[in-house]
Amino acid sequence: MCGIIGYIGKNVKKNLIEGLERLEYRGYDSAGMVIQYNNNFIVRKTVGSVDNLKENVKDIEFDGVGIAHTRWATHGKISLENCHPHFSFKNEICLVHNGIIENFEKLKEKLVKKGIKFYGETDSEVVAKILGENLSLKKIKKLFSLLEGSFSIVSISKNKKELFFAKYKSPLYIAFKEKSMMVASDPSCFFGKFNKYLTIDDGEYGKISLNGIEVYNQDSQMVEKKVSKIKTKELADDKNKFKYYMLKEINESKSIIDNIIERYKQSQLIFRLKSLNIKNFNRIYLVGCGTAYHAGLVGQMYFKEMLEKDIFVCKASEFIFEKNILDNKSLCFFISQSGETADTITALKFAKNRGAKTIAIVNAEYSTITRIADDFFPICAGLEKAVASTKAYLAQCIIFYILAKSFKNEDFISNLITFKGKLSLGNNSLIKRLASYLSYKDKVFFIGRGIDYITSLEAALKLKEITYIYAFAECSGELKHGTLALIEKEIPVIVVATDKKTFAKVLNNAYEVKARGGKLILITSIAINKEIKDNFDFIIKIRRCDEKFLPIQSIIILQKLAYFTAVKMGLNPDMPRNLAKSVTVE
Ligand code: M6R
Repeated sequence: MCGIIGYIGKNVKKNLIEGLERLEYRGYDSAGMVIQYNNNFIVRKTVGSVDNLKENVKDIEFDGVGIAHTRWATHGKISLENCHPHFSFKNEICLVHNGIIENFEKLKEKLVKKGIKFYGETDSEVVAKILGENLSLKKIKKLFSLLEGSFSIVSISKNKKELFFAKYKSPLYIAFKEKSMMVASDPSCFFGKFNKYLTIDDGEYGKISLNGIEVYNQDSQMVEKKVSKIKTKELADDKNKFKYYMLKEINESKSIIDNIIERYKQSQLIFRLKSLNIKNFNRIYLVGCGTAYHAGLVGQMYFKEMLEKDIFVCKASEFIFEKNILDNKSLCFFISQSGETADTITALKFAKNRGAKTIAIVNAEYSTITRIADDFFPICAGLEKAVASTKAYLAQCIIFYILAKSFKNEDFISNLITFKGKLSLGNNSLIKRLASYLSYKDKVFFIGRGIDYITSLEAALKLKEITYIYAFAECSGELKHGTLALIEKEIPVIVVATDKKTFAKVLNNAYEVKARGGKLILITSIAINKEIKDNFDFIIKIRRCDEKFLPIQSIIILQKLAYFTAVKMGLNPDMPRNLAKSVTVE
């Protein structure tokens, strides 16, 4: 993970700070910056968020060249010593790194034997020490044969207005205009500053100066790169009236459905949907991590109703270790909001190498996953900044609905329009009341059957990730096979019950909880009588809609529940501890 950025031009500090603010979703354990000034380095490092660094650089106002970094700790504790940029032995050069150097211990051992002193514990510092005191293209190229793992690196020296870079597996992009250049982990850094950018591919390295950008491949040949236009709409990220991105993003649910309808009406996407000839495949795999994995579970439900095929949902981090049958009869969907998740990229390459047809379901259309996959379907959710994924989940589920319908040659647009009309963002005061009660609890259970169990899984993930409450989801029918032993007096158990087919059975499971002193909270779209009502301590009614969309309708309410609980607890839901938005390490 981590976000890296380098800049040459006017107002170097301002540009680096603004870039870091956009990269902060990649980690916020520490932030650091080095600016070259008078053949020397001005170095500023802080533990914690970019706001802390901002305070620390108030006195710097120069034009020139600099690099900066926002860290998600992998190797070494969260400390100033481990904060990037890292320096060569004699401090003549420094660099920022995103990725993991898997063989850093061996390399470090050799350097230490040569008398090189290290200040921190990171793998990245090893790269700075390897580069030594004089930056050159030759030295940058050498990194590819020395380093194992993943890296994108930007490096500067004390006395030249040049940025050197190298990329292997971790993302890297370069934007340019006449008098300024920027290199960064994510094109969102370029928003409002540049119109054009290049995507650096694995194995490429080079040099950026105000005279131009030189990109080389592993044969030391200069590469002509394709220039892409920055899509401003996709990268806009203002919070509007909202205090936190997470609530803003949940509130965008309706407009996302509009975006999807608009985009999937267009001939280009209709053509791509039609070309995915499902008859050619025996097996379907849906692969992702975290929330994207849960969207895969929803996708599996949609597909199972429409197709007579074997459909598997896999966690990307497990995919390459499982004995999956992967050949040209396999159709694999790789689901990722960011399109940069390392586990998902590895799984995608694995499937591709075995001849499977690979399709990306992504939000970031310029991402690595989009580029590697044979084809992609955009989820059209717009930039998602909060670490907890909300609107992207809704959009991923809808894209699977569209795919399932189009496999059957059925219309999906009119159903989506009707659903959008019915979609409710819930009653905030009711959700806040429940959130306030949960904010004093240290454990919460979610139970449901079938599709409601999937919603429970996603709701529990949301709650635990932003409130740190121990949240556990279980199929309600499974409780009596073990988990019921955990139920004690006053434990909140949230019963998700939107499916008429399973409602009666879920109620029985809920009553088994009540008999053991648990507090029952019902989330339902089904009409209930007084007798049922009396058994629950709290009830939230979900607006009814086409049953296919109920998991989307109910998750919005549960996302809000997690959000309001975190806010009530005084936590920042956008930046949960220990996590980052884009998980670019395995
Ligand atoms: O960018 P991706 O969709 O590939 O990310 C996958 C997961 O890391 C992500 O969904 C994670 O689980 C979220 N923080 C959950 O809210």
